[in-house]
Amino acid sequence: MISIAKPLIGGEEIDEVVKVLKSGLIAQGPKVAEFEERFAEYVNVEHGVATSSGTTALHLALLAADLKKGDEVITTPFTFAATANSILHVDARPVFVDIEPQTYNLDPQKIEEALTEKTRALMPVHLYGQPADMDAISQIAEDHDLKVIEDAAQAHGAIYHDQMVGSLGDAACFSFYPTKNITTSEGGMITTDSSEIDEEARILRTHGESQRYNHVKLGYNFRMTDIAAAIGLVQLRKLDYFNRKRIENAQYLTDHIKNIKGIKPPYVMKDVRHVFHQYTIRVENGKRDELMKFLGKKGIETAIHYPKAIYQHKIYHDMGFKVKCPEAEKAAEEVLSLPVHPGLDHQDLKDITEAIQEAEGKII
Ligand SMILES: Cc1ncc(COP(=O)(O)O)c(C=O)c1O
Repeated sequence: MISIAKPLIGGEEIDEVVKVLKSGLIAQGPKVAEFEERFAEYVNVEHGVATSSGTTALHLALLAADLKKGDEVITTPFTFAATANSILHVDARPVFVDIEPQTYNLDPQKIEEALTEKTRALMPVHLYGQPADMDAISQIAEDHDLKVIEDAAQAHGAIYHDQMVGSLGDAACFSFYPTKNITTSEGGMITTDSSEIDEEARILRTHGESQRYNHVKLGYNFRMTDIAAAIGLVQLRKLDYFNRKRIENAQYLTDHIKNIKGIKPPYVMKDVRHVFHQYTIRVENGKRDELMKFLGKKGIETAIHYPKAIYQHKIYHDMGFKVKCPEAEKAAEEVLSLPVHPGLDHQDLKDITEAIQEAEGKII
């Protein structure tokens, strides 16, 4: 089976984890501090705050940016549930604005009509590793005095007009889940240039403590361990290499399937580095599920990111979300992610594209 995702953990990561285990300092400690520093440097911002997951990074970033009950946060409905859930976790309300059908990212042209007097922030997602249209988004934020929190969970190392993703808003959140471009097993990171957000996030990350056993806020335990950070430090050194492989693999896939009718390969915007967390095609004419099955039989694992718009999930329905985002709903019926991870070899890529070529005329 050619898998859709695969964490690439080598001897170096294992050695570093063993060193941490032997040191006895296995919770948040010096490795977390070093990882925060290195990651912030990589993203080109002042501060990094490591967390237990991408979800807790989003939750903390929203709290630290002072989002609260009754506030509205504009975001995309075409993302992983954690994006919108984090907004609900701080008692704010996600307001879903439709996507741009080529990039699958939040459509800035539709943001203005969703603004109300309660809108406090915009949360774009750099879906599949492609930066959202940040110039337009930042302009709207500036015009209406809104915070921008980037959900960069899928976009480590992506670049938008010469600027690193993660440095384009008030704060950004990354995930290091095993399927991501780099992993720490579970883990997350907030990046920000704001010393207020940094400070607030650090306090809330550890039980609202300003000092040991001095609780000034209602906080959490959202800490990363040194074991996870030790993996992250090694993975970070490999990130550019991993991303180069992803980009090369994506290029190969596109070159070999771009002329197949009924399939649209990913569109890459000008002046961006798309880091292909996912390589997601659009399968037209209602043939997506059939193609998925066909590829599965050939030993090629694929995935649907995502089968529903967020507000179509039961929990959102039950909470009374009554939005309609036709582009997101259409994408949910048509997208299919193919393997693109850096663990693929030339034969794997050949097998994937030949299988799709074989499907042409038969399935699609
Ligand atoms: C867009 C997006 N946001 C948030 C998350 C949450 O990250 P985590 O799984 O590390 O909590 C993920 C990853 O799963 C994601 O893909």
